[in-house]
Amino acid sequence: KPVVLSGIQPTGGMTIGNYVGAINQWLKLQEDHDCFFMLVDLHAITVRQEPSALRERVLDGIALYAACGIDPEKSALFVQSQVPEHAQLSWVLNCYAQMGELNRMTQFKDKSAKNTNNVNVGLFAYPVLQAADILLYQADQVPVGEDQKQHLELTRDIATRFNNLYGDVFKVPEPYIPELGARVMSLQDPLKKMSKSDDNPNAYIMLLDEPKKIEKKLKKAVTDSDEQARIYFDREEKPGVSNLLTLLSVATKRDVADLVPEYEDKMYGHLKKDTADAVVAMLEPMQARFREIREDQALLDQIMRNGAEKAGARAEQTLKAAYEAVGFIPRP
Ligand code: TYM
Repeated sequence: KPVVLSGIQPTGGMTIGNYVGAINQWLKLQEDHDCFFMLVDLHAITVRQEPSALRERVLDGIALYAACGIDPEKSALFVQSQVPEHAQLSWVLNCYAQMGELNRMTQFKDKSAKNTNNVNVGLFAYPVLQAADILLYQADQVPVGEDQKQHLELTRDIATRFNNLYGDVFKVPEPYIPELGARVMSLQDPLKKMSKSDDNPNAYIMLLDEPKKIEKKLKKAVTDSDEQARIYFDREEKPGVSNLLTLLSVATKRDVADLVPEYEDKMYGHLKKDTADAVVAMLEPMQARFREIREDQALLDQIMRNGAEKAGARAEQTLKAAYEAVGFIPRP
């Protein structure tokens, strides 16, 4: 079976963008792929985190993955820091990544510009750790949103460079970016990506937002102010409407092309209302499952233990091969 790996940062909860861009693809892939899904807590500390909050968010994340339908029997759900090979391979790969190429990473440019008082080395090397995450599992496919494309290209470059020096140590992975929903936009400014770090909470929907809040945010969503308030899908001409149609499509599991004719003589208000209803219908049962799982510490422990064991077994082999390749002597 082809191998799939992906991860989300356990910082401040997950947005519906994380769901549409990533988790929704994971659900499809887990049926016929060997899947590894993690919470990347090592990545999270590149921005200062309150330790107790970080612990809570990681447990929330495991419970959310499970509540969304990632099945711990089919997929390995694990916490990055519990598999030490990530940090270990990351160091090796640091020595095969160039300052110049990391300097070009737009995520680093954005984050370092926003957070000028803590531009730490980890933030700079973040994409190398991400490369280690992926290469450790010899992943064939990496399902992510559009914003991670540049990091995946870097991963491919590092893997190819290493392989050219030492032989085929790493599988060169393919990105797996959805056609619809690769970039869920801000509800307040549909030209900007939806992000949980947005200053305006009306810009995003969190997976754990209360239904009332979700309805309110979608009601307030900025739509497009061209003369004709027609509803059709066109990301350039109609970014706001297209964003709502994307959410509606994912939440109802119906094609956009199928939905659009139903809005021929309807108004923006109808689309907002239907989108809110559909998103709530999708999230409400998930939230109930989340609360149940989140309270069951024994279950969370079991998921993490099994996940780390399965992930560790695979990661160990690749790390060994990479260590050997560069000339390290195994501990006698
Ligand atoms: P993170 O935590 O920022 O986002 C997690 C996933 O959600 C996707 N995403 C979106 N998709 C569509 N529209 C949006 N508005 C939106 N916002 C976020 C992201 O593309 C991502 O797929 N560096 C990664 C985490 C990571 C990782 C990895 C991913 C670490 N190691 C290895 C894949 C493989 C990140 O910051 O994701």
